[in-house]
Amino acid sequence: MVVLVLPVFFGCTGNASTVKSDDDVEKRVESLLSEMTLDEKIGQMSQVDPGVFGGLENLKKVVRNGQLGSVLNLIGAKEVNELQRVAIEESRLGIPLIIGRDVIHGYRTIFPIPLGMAASWNEDLVRESAAIAAKEAASMGINWTFAPMIDVSRDPRWGRIAESAGEDPLLNSMVARAMVQGYQGDDLSDPLTIAACAKHFVGYGAAEGGRDYNTTVISDLQLHNVYLPPFKEAVKAGAATVMTAFNEINGIPASGHKHNIRDILKNEYGFDGFVVSDWASIQEMISHGFARDLKHAGELGLAAGIDMEMASRSYNDYLKELLDEGKVDMEWVDDAVARILRIKFRLGLFDNPYVDESLADSLLVNVEHLKVARKLAEESVVLLKNENQVLPLKKGTKVALIGPMANQPYEQLGTWIFDGDENDSQTVLEAFNAFNGDNNVFFAEGLEYSRDKSTKGFAEVERAIAQSEVVVAVVGEEAILSGEAKSLAELDFVGAQGELLKLAASKGKPVVMIVMSGRPAGLFKTQHLAKSILYAWHPGTMAGPALANLVFGETVPVGKLPVTFPKGEGQVPIYYAHKMTGRPADASTWTHIDEIPVQAVQHSLGNTSHTLDYGFTPLYPFGYGLSYTSFEYSDINISAKSLSIGESLKVSATITNTGDVEGAETVQLYTRDLVGSYTRPVRELKDYQRVTLSPGESKEVVFELNSDQLGFYFPDGEFVVEPGDFHVWIAPNAAEGLRAEFELQ
Ligand code: GLC
Repeated sequence: MVVLVLPVFFGCTGNASTVKSDDDVEKRVESLLSEMTLDEKIGQMSQVDPGVFGGLENLKKVVRNGQLGSVLNLIGAKEVNELQRVAIEESRLGIPLIIGRDVIHGYRTIFPIPLGMAASWNEDLVRESAAIAAKEAASMGINWTFAPMIDVSRDPRWGRIAESAGEDPLLNSMVARAMVQGYQGDDLSDPLTIAACAKHFVGYGAAEGGRDYNTTVISDLQLHNVYLPPFKEAVKAGAATVMTAFNEINGIPASGHKHNIRDILKNEYGFDGFVVSDWASIQEMISHGFARDLKHAGELGLAAGIDMEMASRSYNDYLKELLDEGKVDMEWVDDAVARILRIKFRLGLFDNPYVDESLADSLLVNVEHLKVARKLAEESVVLLKNENQVLPLKKGTKVALIGPMANQPYEQLGTWIFDGDENDSQTVLEAFNAFNGDNNVFFAEGLEYSRDKSTKGFAEVERAIAQSEVVVAVVGEEAILSGEAKSLAELDFVGAQGELLKLAASKGKPVVMIVMSGRPAGLFKTQHLAKSILYAWHPGTMAGPALANLVFGETVPVGKLPVTFPKGEGQVPIYYAHKMTGRPADASTWTHIDEIPVQAVQHSLGNTSHTLDYGFTPLYPFGYGLSYTSFEYSDINISAKSLSIGESLKVSATITNTGDVEGAETVQLYTRDLVGSYTRPVRELKDYQRVTLSPGESKEVVFELNSDQLGFYFPDGEFVVEPGDFHVWIAPNAAEGLRAEFELQ
């Protein structure tokens, strides 16, 4: 029997609620819309960048004529007020502009890149970072950010994995919820909140070959169960806007995808904000071979449900003609404009259009904001190994601090930091000197930047190591090596970093590796050279203090991987929620390529799903992360061996701190649906909880599992809960854990 139930949002049940405009807003939208000319309506549907539109003076002309609804990348509170004043006081209807900017992981106070934020698994802290980013951005006249980016990403070659929350729909949904709530607060008309923008709708992270903007082929089953859920969560959280993606999906460009935008996002999800195209993604439908020319692209964009066109000018140039020719409907135009006005009213822009230009002085990179940035940076770092408990170091230890990322105030900020300032950065070198005393820190970067292939600095590295007890090597990627259009075919460390690590390891002193990177990469051929590895992503402004606190034990690592770590690009894509296949691999069926006997006959090996050289397991699994203490999982218990649809059961286990320092563990709950009308993943994350334990302390961690959390979407988008047998784990990561079984009836 198949049961159709209301879709559940990850971790909670209940009716999908969308942000309802209140009556007052609706009345004001309707009344204003009725007064607008067609030119003014089309104006609202256009957004331009002053930099490519001939600057502020040129902008003032179109704004004065009511032919522009939004600008992006207009810098400065004064400049924004100047242009806003033209819109309000000199245009016929005085409709305010909405001012957009990419505030992706902080405005001036830069937090870890979103992949790092996700590694904290700390929803409150992620939300707080977005609220701070909103305050700082709003003080500069920005009232709309193009974030959160919630493209599920399973390919470290793809540069924009750095901006995502990784491979899992539930973790991306957490970030979606947290950032929308953080940016928008409880009252979007509060002058220190800004409109969020869930992007890129949809499936952008599935780019073939990890090459940005590339084709995506996504089954309906994957679309509904992997790529859409974070957007559904963003809409439920009240996201004011959604941005469409550059990629095509199964032959239709995302920015011309009427079914996804109108049928799913607007109708099924009840999204009542507005949809903006990505930069010229409407025009790019010509290149895709989906539109004949710019006029046809505009027709397809509006028909698909794009309400505002970013950067390209098809709406401005052709919508009137298309209307006259009956190619597009006036109701589409009216609906688009109504959505845009609705968000402007919700933002309070009609009542409070100008920014207080004195605000920024007290808000930008203030002490409170930097404290949160340090805390989130600390919690985003994942301890991948710590042989012989090399970490934490004792204060006063003589440390050789080496590597091209150890003193790089700009690089540590990571990608998409338009308004970050490297002068605010505190580097690892500065923080180590401050904490450990510069007489105990012997700095030799060895390489001037991550891609540096010259070893001329290695002699100085040897001198530094000779004076030290421990080597701390800060390696990874410059910021420019991840982000938009920054994909990599090889996942090893760039430049001569491998040689630098080999040199460091050859001196007989323990090596601690700190990696600053926009992707899970670089370790397969180098991790054996380090006793300890702290994976720090790009930690942002407060990278130094955060890493000093972790290395010297002022705080204990809590991060857990939001994305699987492959052994190398040859394993990609590799992710934990994979399918069983008809021939699942295990240790008994895999023989390493170097162990295969010469002239082994064709069927002498295990015919299962693996590769001869890398096997079938990743380097590190999703959800993995160590602590300076250790945790034991015991006594899994399930409140019932069978569960009826519509009911819940409890799953619990005891977590014990078996080490000698206090630590926090993010305990994860996974399930597996053993048999389905469509094959189901071997594991799916359903919930998680953080527990803090003193040495020797035990706590029972209890999860409530509702039958709705066991459902999945059929290819037609119907959410279905099917009776059957299930496994459930309480686990430290996606590869381990205590397992119980139950039946859903
Ligand atoms: C870029 C990105 C998008 C960004 C937009 C505005 O091309 O794809 O994420 O928000 O243009 O900068």
